[in-house]
Amino acid sequence: TNFPREFKEGFLWGGATAANQVEGGWNIDEKGLTTAEVVRKAENRTELTFNEVTKESIKDAIADSTDTLYPKRRGVDFYHNYREDIRLFAEMGFKAYRMSIAWARIFPNGDELEPNEAGLAFYDRVFDELAKYNIEPVVTLSHYEMPLALTVKQNGWVSRKTITSFTRYTEVVFKRYRNKVKYWLTFNEINAGTFGFMGTGAVDSALSEDEKLQLRYQALHHQFIASALAVTQGHTINPEFKIGSMLARMQTYPLTPNPVDVRAAQENDNLNLFFTDVQVRGEYPEFMNRYLSEHQVKLVMEPDDEKIIKMGTVDFISFSYYMSTVTSANNAGDKSVGNMLNGEKNPYLETSEWGWQVDPVGLRISLNEMWNRYHVPLFIVENGLGAADQLEADGSVHDEYRINYLREHITQMKEAVKDGVDLMGYTMWGCIDLISASTSEMSKRYGFIYVDQDDDGHGSLKRYKKDSFDWYQHVIDTNGREM
Ligand code: BG6
Repeated sequence: TNFPREFKEGFLWGGATAANQVEGGWNIDEKGLTTAEVVRKAENRTELTFNEVTKESIKDAIADSTDTLYPKRRGVDFYHNYREDIRLFAEMGFKAYRMSIAWARIFPNGDELEPNEAGLAFYDRVFDELAKYNIEPVVTLSHYEMPLALTVKQNGWVSRKTITSFTRYTEVVFKRYRNKVKYWLTFNEINAGTFGFMGTGAVDSALSEDEKLQLRYQALHHQFIASALAVTQGHTINPEFKIGSMLARMQTYPLTPNPVDVRAAQENDNLNLFFTDVQVRGEYPEFMNRYLSEHQVKLVMEPDDEKIIKMGTVDFISFSYYMSTVTSANNAGDKSVGNMLNGEKNPYLETSEWGWQVDPVGLRISLNEMWNRYHVPLFIVENGLGAADQLEADGSVHDEYRINYLREHITQMKEAVKDGVDLMGYTMWGCIDLISASTSEMSKRYGFIYVDQDDDGHGSLKRYKKDSFDWYQHVIDTNGREM
């Protein structure tokens, strides 16, 4: 019935950012230091400095009052430029803007009893500005950061006490913005974040691999509880809220048709989807219980935990999609693929300048797989191409490679909608150039809007429209019919 299907009426076209990558204003208006602001910038495109944080490096970072080594302190100064930036989003016709709240603006140390009014007032101004243009905010509660003090005092999410701090924070923002924000996401990329400092806020670099596994799954368990409690709390505060989970989706293919490779790929895919299994179905899947027990991970749970997870299931699934990966039973594939990727190389795909394997068809496969598995609405809240753009003397940026990347992905998205997938929206990652998450580089650019700033923080911060700006405006204007 109803063929050919198209993107639905009210499809949430837009762009996405995160507080620690755009805001700047890191030490003003009573904001506390965040975990993102003690991660050094990388020396090269593959170094993952968030895995190198130690107690000593945190002390050094606290003592350093500059942003030289820590680009996430400066972002692209959205804190002072939000009006102009939102005006540009509106000019492209955005229906939605995904952003995050910096928890440490609201609770500078995470464990205060009263929130910081200056932080709350900032997000009021941002939401009011979006409302002027009828842009729907989609708000991530924790995007790869938390108040640093919670790490120093209690090792971040490893401590159960962090759940209490988080629910105090979510209660405050849910109540304050109950009439300004409808769409919420709990933890950004709950899977990727949890496997290191960026998501857990826990310092574990000195531990053995077994110890790390134990601690990270415990931290993850606390995030599942915190996320489920937030969903229940949010629905009580405003039953109209739509609260989603957020996964870094990594579609896995077998290296060969050999059944042992197919099974290895299936296991890898399960390990990626296990997070949504918990957040959508409200329980740990059986295969995960087996996995945890075979890896000697013993989760400390409280008697009500199962009930809490069951009650706090999400309204929709949001996810990021940048690449797919390949698995074989005996690690036979080429491992020389880019950062953030632990799989093997797919000989059929091209890679980005940062070694990420570009796979538009994988997006359609993933959308179908997740729809079949869960039957809840899906929302692509990140997708895009990090590239080294060239600003021309006349202020133009010719980024046809980005247009091609986006066109190919949106085409596959459209196919998935025709396949029957319920898709809520698409917010392109890094709609305005920002500091990269993995390497803290400025030169890895995603935006429709170019920001004049280099890796060392030099530049006028002036904004320029890239060629993709006009292209995306037309895509939104025609609801994806013309690309
Ligand atoms: C996702 C994150 O992993 O990918 C974003 O949620 C991040 O925060 C994006 O910026 C792209 O990664 P990177 O390292 O290129 O910035």
